[in-house]
Amino acid sequence: MIEKYKDSLRDSIKKIAVFRNLPDRYAQLIADGFSMVNFRKGDPIFYQSDKSTDLYVVFRGKVRASLLNREGEEFVLDVFGEGDFFGEMSLLDGRPRSASAIANEDAALGFLRRDKFLETIKAEPMIAIEMLNALVHRLRKTDDVIGTLAFLDVSERLLKFFREIAKTEGKKDKDGLLKIKKQTHKELASRIGSSREAISKALRILWFKKLVSERDGYFLVSPDAGGLSEEKVSA
Ligand code: CMP
Repeated sequence: MIEKYKDSLRDSIKKIAVFRNLPDRYAQLIADGFSMVNFRKGDPIFYQSDKSTDLYVVFRGKVRASLLNREGEEFVLDVFGEGDFFGEMSLLDGRPRSASAIANEDAALGFLRRDKFLETIKAEPMIAIEMLNALVHRLRKTDDVIGTLAFLDVSERLLKFFREIAKTEGKKDKDGLLKIKKQTHKELASRIGSSREAISKALRILWFKKLVSERDGYFLVSPDAGGLSEEKVSA
């Protein structure tokens, strides 16, 4: 029974991008070192500055990495889904967690101890190259976020965010408008680095410009590449 479970864990591990080129024996080594843990939506997995150094992989559900301030305001750095890993920064440099990790929905995670991971990397350096690739990808995304925060006002950021999630949600209504499941103003604020009040104002501007409307629990967003920049309105 346990052998069967380990085999299926090894197969799941080989589906994860960072481990996909691992020869079976190393995938087995990683599978042997993994422990599984379940979290309910909203549960913290760890907090920023915690001293843990395990690597986590998402097997089911979603987890967000966030910065939280003293007032409990949140800025979401990224959301990780099935096959993604997180916790690699403390894993690699042994320093405290750079951000908090919170279950965005019910989630099943595997975690691997730092020593086990370093042992496997030494045996199979290809894992390090895959991980570097993933880190560079994250850095590029972060650069994009910095550019967005530096150069776009709140309504432009919101429009950009809607169009980005539409790429993954991929739903359109009969008029060709992008359909995005409604989120609270607080949730939107945490995704684009803003406040609830500024989001309300930005939504009013987007509604007035006929770029965003709301219906049946969805935001409907104009798919045109353009938006506010030609006639910039400050939110
Ligand atoms: P670690 O510092 O160990 O714990 C917090 C985790 O959040 C971090 O590892 C990364 O996995 C993730 N994280 C931190 N900053 C970013 C970022 N800018 N983009 C994506 N993920 C991040």
